[in-house]
Amino acid sequence: MRNYSIALIPGDGIGVDVIREGKKVLDTACEIDGGISIQYEQFDWSCEYYLKHGKMMPDNGLEILKNFDSIYLGAVGYPGVPDHVSLWGLLLPIRRQFQQYINIRPVKLLRGIKSPLANRGVEDLDFIVIRENNEGEYSSIGGRMYEGTNMDMAIQNSVFTRHGVERVLRYAFNLANQQGKRKRLTAATKSNGINHTMPFWDEYVQKINKEFPDVKTDIIHIDALCAFFVTKPDVFDVVVASNLFGDILTDLGAAIIGGLGIAPSANINPEKKFPSMFEPVHGSAPDIAGKGIANPTAAIWCASMMLEHFGENKLAKAIMEALQDVLEEGRIVTPDLGGNATTEEFGEQVCRRLRENY
Ligand code: NAI
Ligand code: MG
Repeated sequence: MRNYSIALIPGDGIGVDVIREGKKVLDTACEIDGGISIQYEQFDWSCEYYLKHGKMMPDNGLEILKNFDSIYLGAVGYPGVPDHVSLWGLLLPIRRQFQQYINIRPVKLLRGIKSPLANRGVEDLDFIVIRENNEGEYSSIGGRMYEGTNMDMAIQNSVFTRHGVERVLRYAFNLANQQGKRKRLTAATKSNGINHTMPFWDEYVQKINKEFPDVKTDIIHIDALCAFFVTKPDVFDVVVASNLFGDILTDLGAAIIGGLGIAPSANINPEKKFPSMFEPVHGSAPDIAGKGIANPTAAIWCASMMLEHFGENKLAKAIMEALQDVLEEGRIVTPDLGGNATTEEFGEQVCRRLRENY
């Protein structure tokens, strides 16, 4: 038996609904394969937990998580708890302490989903965004002074280190070199307006490019790049971006592949010294929380990425095929894609399909 241990953190709102379906799909994958077994432990760390305990997770939370092979997270966020509390109390400590410095966000149109971009199909929308996940613009360095006076001010610093920039670029170049269909890397910059960190970033793009002479590289300003995601998404292969730019770009990426209900993400510690974390790009969606109508596609796709990370490529692929078969069939469709199916109905249909296909 190949054994894996997964820490489940459903979190808040629709996080709970989508992780439930994702787990069912993982269970079905184990059942049809017969050779793998997964042990789960579920944690109720969330904003609800925060309201009871004054923290998002226990003080030894990271110590507990450290021993798992991976973390499967829904979303955190709850009206009444400020978003920076939920982010800095749970997600960011996990991403940082576990050195999950690579955030993989595929921008790939699945079979059965219609892109909002006119006349674009699965062959046009198929690239990967690599977002730097440990430093950059999301630093807690800075401060606020003179609050409540008319001199009120705030400063937030960005952190770009040689170590941090080189490792994310090397990962992205390597990916473009090995898996990229066009061996093309696009780096997001803004070196015209941000005149210290972004020229630094660009300089390292050129430096690391020398290690990968076969990869064709473009350095494009983030604003223009956003427009190109809409006007010529077919030219991209691997896109690499700093933490903030990658965050913003990938909501746009999610939109062009059918919305936040679809888009998955993986927070990877490539050295596998610590667990990696798999989570949909979307948040807890308070507007539809508790209604049972969230689209679990992103969470199911994350489950597939997790199996791929374990080296279970055949099962990972089987999940993606079953998922796309259900989407293409178009009978069980959640409201975000124009249908009226529930989260559970969709998840169960994917499981059924997975059994049938195998
Ligand atoms: P959101 O992603 O929760 O929702 C944005 C819109 O997309 C809403 O209209 C929502 O109904 C829709 N949507 C999202 N996921 C969906 C799904 N699976 N199926 C169908 N529709 C879906 O983003 P928002 O509203 O900005 O944030 C809500 C809360 O979530 C906030 O507290 C925020 O901080 C948190 N959040 C947490 C994240 C995480 O845990 N990684 C990521 C993003 C936001
Ligand atoms: Mg985001």
